[in-house]
Amino acid sequence: MNNVSSLDISNTLEFKELSNIVIKSICKRYQVKCLEDIENLGSDWFYSKGIDLRDDTNTTLEIDNKLRILLDKLKVKADFMQFPVNIRLYMPKPMKNSKLKEYNTDELHCDHWSGSPSDSTNCFLYIHKKFDSTYLAFYDFEEKDLEKVRSYRGSYLNAPKLEVKELKQINKTGILHLWNCQTPHKTVRIGPSCTVSIDFRLRSATKIFNEDLNKKEEVWIKSRMTSLGVYWIISDQIHTRMEEKIKSELELSKNYGTKYTNLRREYLKSHYNQENYIESP
Ligand SMILES: [Fe+2]
Repeated sequence: MNNVSSLDISNTLEFKELSNIVIKSICKRYQVKCLEDIENLGSDWFYSKGIDLRDDTNTTLEIDNKLRILLDKLKVKADFMQFPVNIRLYMPKPMKNSKLKEYNTDELHCDHWSGSPSDSTNCFLYIHKKFDSTYLAFYDFEEKDLEKVRSYRGSYLNAPKLEVKELKQINKTGILHLWNCQTPHKTVRIGPSCTVSIDFRLRSATKIFNEDLNKKEEVWIKSRMTSLGVYWIISDQIHTRMEEKIKSELELSKNYGTKYTNLRREYLKSHYNQENYIESP
């Protein structure tokens, strides 16, 4: 029922650059010399910091630039890409009470269950993965469950129970997994080491995108990270400052009509205005 494409990009220049950017940013934010320091300080210390790695705009812009170049080279086509991407550091132990979280990614889930576009493509790149560390597992399900998988919306905790079989993937540093949004997956925590990844979704101007344009404005602008405004038009420009990315987006948005342009303007007003948008030093 499902398939996951896996590309080994570990030898590409873009991967090496992405890896440097992400690891440098993690070390700076957590004030450590290397990832092993974080492993030694432990899960409780890590969670007590409460850092969201997406807050560092210089880093998320650099990642965005490199990823668009990489996807073009890999001939992965789409019209829109999530910005900022998720930067995750998985500790061996999950956060306390995470089992009670509605959208705990350690539970089997599909991203459209929590509102991601159902025709989007998920991308997950291992920046740092040791043999004995947390990985993302993908699952095949029975055809009889297809309707359940497609139509469910809501928390991962209350999701329909599916009969699934784990798909065997190679999981190591430099592997990029791409999969259809309707492929069940979850985080599997193993071993004593930490795993670092970046993940994001791609979407295109499909029928579903056009239907989304007719949805309530709040679906597009309510949240900076999880509403439909998080998918920005894929530009071929390099953006070193947020203002440049916004300028490109507004120029390109004309190609997607007035509705899209107006929704983008509202999203920018809500999440990137002078008051709440502070560029990191
Ligand atoms: Fe997910």
